[in-house]
Amino acid sequence: MLRDQFPGLNNQVHGKPLVYLDNAATAQRPLAVLDAVNGYYLHHNANIHRGVHAMSESATELYEQARGSLARLINAPSPKDLIFVRGCTEGVNLVAQTFVRSRLKAGDEILISHLEHHSNIVPWQILCEQTGAVLKVIPMNEQGELVLDDLDRLLNARTKFMSVVHISNSLGTINPVKKLIKAAHDQGVPILVDGAQAAPHIKVDVQDLDCDFYTVSGHKMYGPTGSGVLYGKAEHLNAMPPYQGGGEMISKVTFESTVYNAVPAKFEAGTPNIAGGIGLGAAAEFMLSVGLERIEQRDHELRIYTEQALQQVDGLRIIGTAAQKSPVFSFVIDGVHAHDIGTIIDHYGVAVRTGHHCTMPIFQFFGLAGSCRASLAFYNTEQEVDVLVESLLKAKAMFA
Ligand code: ALA
Repeated sequence: MLRDQFPGLNNQVHGKPLVYLDNAATAQRPLAVLDAVNGYYLHHNANIHRGVHAMSESATELYEQARGSLARLINAPSPKDLIFVRGCTEGVNLVAQTFVRSRLKAGDEILISHLEHHSNIVPWQILCEQTGAVLKVIPMNEQGELVLDDLDRLLNARTKFMSVVHISNSLGTINPVKKLIKAAHDQGVPILVDGAQAAPHIKVDVQDLDCDFYTVSGHKMYGPTGSGVLYGKAEHLNAMPPYQGGGEMISKVTFESTVYNAVPAKFEAGTPNIAGGIGLGAAAEFMLSVGLERIEQRDHELRIYTEQALQQVDGLRIIGTAAQKSPVFSFVIDGVHAHDIGTIIDHYGVAVRTGHHCTMPIFQFFGLAGSCRASLAFYNTEQEVDVLVESLLKAKAMFA
């Protein structure tokens, strides 16, 4: 059974079997990933791209194979179009500072959406402070779907870049990114897609999407923390200046000047997270072997089941009811604070996230301080959803 591949799911908390429903915060890792990380440290522990000795060569090979696996997972034209980063946050910051910054002057606009994670808001605000550019936001409706009626006005001659999330971490909304990418390109605007929550849930094909940049976080897609990749179109990556200076991103250094290395090394200064990259490659291979269609099908079943099951809790309101949605359930319960719910159900073994989920503007829209969020992965079961519901009923009874 697939679930057996995830030893972390066998933990007990407070003497109860763990019901892990906090996958949007970080997923559990399969044995294949744990073995790949362990295997690097046990048998290939050397620096990469630097040594002539056997272990350095085998470590380099594993690291570059991992880049190839990631390229296959998101259908990038070449592994060279992928830069290893420590997660989506670094991917967005890298693009903001190396691709977008030099294109901006005061009064230019950057377009994002109301559904963004703070990591796709704050880097653009920093850039606006640095350049005098202005941040514009695609609005959303009560269902948590983007309202695109005004897109023609929001994407205009002043718009120099667009950055949107593929799947909302807070509400689960699946955005129509292909449509947004086309709209941006019709105006000559390059676009980045934040795929942190999409990569673990749906098939991502960067060539079909035709996005300029796409970034994923390893730990959300069953890989190690502190790992991730940024995909960029080769024409952009080749033209962009480096993000950080240091070893490995150079081909020649004198005190007078430096010649930079070719892509992707140009963007990978310093010794990277070697074990993390190798583990992330194993996560990509794992997902490919499970099959994205199977993951999408299981997501759909769990989403429908959970939606219905939560109706058993009187006074529970789901925040975010988009037609296209992944199995992420933000909810509030009348008369009970989200943190209290989270703390009580933890005692029944149920792990959920409470608060604003790094998306304060979403909760400002709904007039809430935050919510409880149950976020499911393909390895979760209907029985676990039943335990969630039972524990919510008990929490509610305590406050009756
Ligand atoms: N972005 C992560 C979450 O949604 C941390 O919980």
